[in-house]
Amino acid sequence: MKVLIVGSGGREHALAWKIAKSPRVETVYCAPGNGGTRLVAENVPLAETDIAGLAHFAEREKVGLTVVGPEVPLSMGLVDEFERRGLRVFGPSKKAAEIESSKVFAKEFMGRHRIPTGRFKVVDNYDDARKVLASSEFGYPVVVKADGLAAGKGVVVCATPKKAEETASEMLVQKKFGPAGRRVIIEEFLRGREVSFIVVSDGLRVQPLVTAMDHKTAYDGDKGPNTGGMGAFSPSPLMSEKLFNEIMSTVILPTVTRMLEEGRRFKGVLYAGLMITDSGPRVLEFNGRFGDPETQPQMMRLESDLVDLLEAAVDQDILRTEVRWSPDPSGCVVVASGGYPVHYEKGKIISGLTEAAAVPGVAVFHAGTKFENGQYLTTGGRVLGVCATAPTLAEAMGRAYEACGKVYFEAMYYRRDIGAIKEER
Ligand code: AMP
Ligand code: GLY
Repeated sequence: MKVLIVGSGGREHALAWKIAKSPRVETVYCAPGNGGTRLVAENVPLAETDIAGLAHFAEREKVGLTVVGPEVPLSMGLVDEFERRGLRVFGPSKKAAEIESSKVFAKEFMGRHRIPTGRFKVVDNYDDARKVLASSEFGYPVVVKADGLAAGKGVVVCATPKKAEETASEMLVQKKFGPAGRRVIIEEFLRGREVSFIVVSDGLRVQPLVTAMDHKTAYDGDKGPNTGGMGAFSPSPLMSEKLFNEIMSTVILPTVTRMLEEGRRFKGVLYAGLMITDSGPRVLEFNGRFGDPETQPQMMRLESDLVDLLEAAVDQDILRTEVRWSPDPSGCVVVASGGYPVHYEKGKIISGLTEAAAVPGVAVFHAGTKFENGQYLTTGGRVLGVCATAPTLAEAMGRAYEACGKVYFEAMYYRRDIGAIKEER
């Protein structure tokens, strides 16, 4: 079978790496891919948003399964177009992906079905935003969120009324996020521990992935601006059996069932970002895709065939496969360009990749890289995900950091505390 992976990040490299190991797969394509995916897949020069081009390619090459990595093509209806043409594709339809692409939809959906989440108000103009903020209904800090996709930058925790008004104004008046900020959510600030809960769903039932935890902020000690993720590890030390069962029964299963009832069958990865508060789990957000970088350590631990699992979801028969995980933990350190997530330079030559990959238990997944004239060059903020597995998390992180020490490009940086548990906030 031929498999097409859509996307170009570390998540897609990890998916391609795992799918290439499937005995059922003869060719893996990655569109557009990166400098690393070319080692395990054939890169196809089509943008992730070129839906007609991708569908045409899948038809022409007789691709048996397409796997969509990022949220943007999902929100544009890639899955709907592929299905219209009779192509097999793993991911939610446009209507189902709204659980991620519209935070207003997600919050109102949770409200309708009593799925636990923070209290909130939706506003669509600055006057109303100021009224809500002045009413001290939510106290401070308060969270201000743009409705639409904003590459992880549309959520601001505001400590003061001034900051909250400024943020609402940036979204609603200055239109910093364009149409994504046409509507804004003002939400109570939740305290507790943040956990991610990721399952594969066939629209009716789910198979949970092994737990993982990411580090969102740029600098050590969870300081600095939020990023797409500076590292991740699996399993999450914050997940107990009791908590697992509570999240399944209060969040995951009701969400899948109610989406189906609302005519938005959710086939794909359902990723719940949760705050574990004193009164139980509360949903911060949903994603309709694999996590990045959580996927990298998760794929290192997956022993069974990923293609079997994804196909079972597409066939609406997810329980037919057995998903097996290695008991060994794994971790992933993101190596980023200096200045990320704000301003950074591209085009730096990367060295030491072979030496890094030679460290036992290590896999180096590429994100913002390209291969040109025999050299690897940086093309983005998050450049590499240096991953490792070992019998203990401490050993896995030791291996990952040993490998990081062998990689070099100008102005690179990475966090030194990936794998350490976050403090309660
Ligand atoms: P989201 O994209 O909605 O998950 O928000 C990004 C990050 O903002 C989350 O991972 C949390 O760290 C933080 N956040 C979002 N909503 C809240 C909230 N209601 N209370 C506290 N922190 C929040
Ligand atoms: N690492 C967070 C995400 O994938 O949304």
